[in-house]
Amino acid sequence: MPKLEVKNIAAFYGRAQALQDVSLVVNPGETVALLGANGAGKTTTLKVISGLVRAARGEVLFDGKRLTGKSPESIVTMGIVHVPEGRHLFPGLTVQENLYLGSTPRKLSRAKMKGEIDRIFQLFPALGQHLKQHLDRPAWALSGGQQQMVAVARGLMANPKVLLLDEPSLGLAPIIVKQLFQVIGRIGQEGTTILLVEQNAPMAFSVSQRAYVIEAGKVTVQDTVEQLRQNSAVRNAYLGLGGEESRSGEGEIATS
Ligand SMILES: Nc1ncnc2c1ncn2[C@@H]1O[C@H](COP(=O)(O)OP(=O)(O)OP(=O)(O)O)[C@@H](O)[C@H]1O
Ligand SMILES: [Mg+2]
Repeated sequence: MPKLEVKNIAAFYGRAQALQDVSLVVNPGETVALLGANGAGKTTTLKVISGLVRAARGEVLFDGKRLTGKSPESIVTMGIVHVPEGRHLFPGLTVQENLYLGSTPRKLSRAKMKGEIDRIFQLFPALGQHLKQHLDRPAWALSGGQQQMVAVARGLMANPKVLLLDEPSLGLAPIIVKQLFQVIGRIGQEGTTILLVEQNAPMAFSVSQRAYVIEAGKVTVQDTVEQLRQNSAVRNAYLGLGGEESRSGEGEIATS
């Protein structure tokens, strides 16, 4: 079973350094959350893994094989699928066409693709079943929540070994967020390894076994979700529990 290892990654946009030193591990079958404030480097970390941003230092290993330096296409083919921030569906294409595009790395026949859509929509509650009746609608005509479901479903069409999810809950109503996390929980239970970037820490914790906190391009906290729920700094900053004292300034979160 493949394991994803990110080791001492540094990354730049031009001269601006986005990642200083990011290391993390996602074990086979695990769901791991990556938390952090705006601009901390969460998206960049996912982009380095999926080959969209080049690492200036460090390496990414999958199943012991080096991903660093490989093209995004070959990384997808190896089974690492990135569902980007902001959905990025093709608005003029139908839901079905968007889903078909997700299966491109597998080169499936049309009949097989249809079968895959049926299989994937089994994972989805009401909203997914509803979507099935809208396969021929253009993506632009869907609600934000429906679009996010389609974006996740499109990622699943590639039959990922590892799913990289970037802020799936962003901009969605609480009830839709709940449904979406039910889907993510099921995907994880079915054995897909997941690295989940989220600002909604309570929801992220509900489906994850471990989590990392990234601040200014560095991992500052890593622990099991069980331990992090007890960590007063994490409770204050990410779970909205406890007092306000540790929220002041840009200070780093204590790891103890
Ligand atoms: N395309 C880009 N060009 C230049 N700088 C960028 C680019 N994308 C991100 N950055 C910078 O890199 C740093 C990390 O950004 P990143 O998008 O990884 O943060 P993030 O943790 O995903 O934030 P958010 O929660 O807002 O999505 C930030 O300082 C950001 O301004
Ligand atoms: Mg981001």
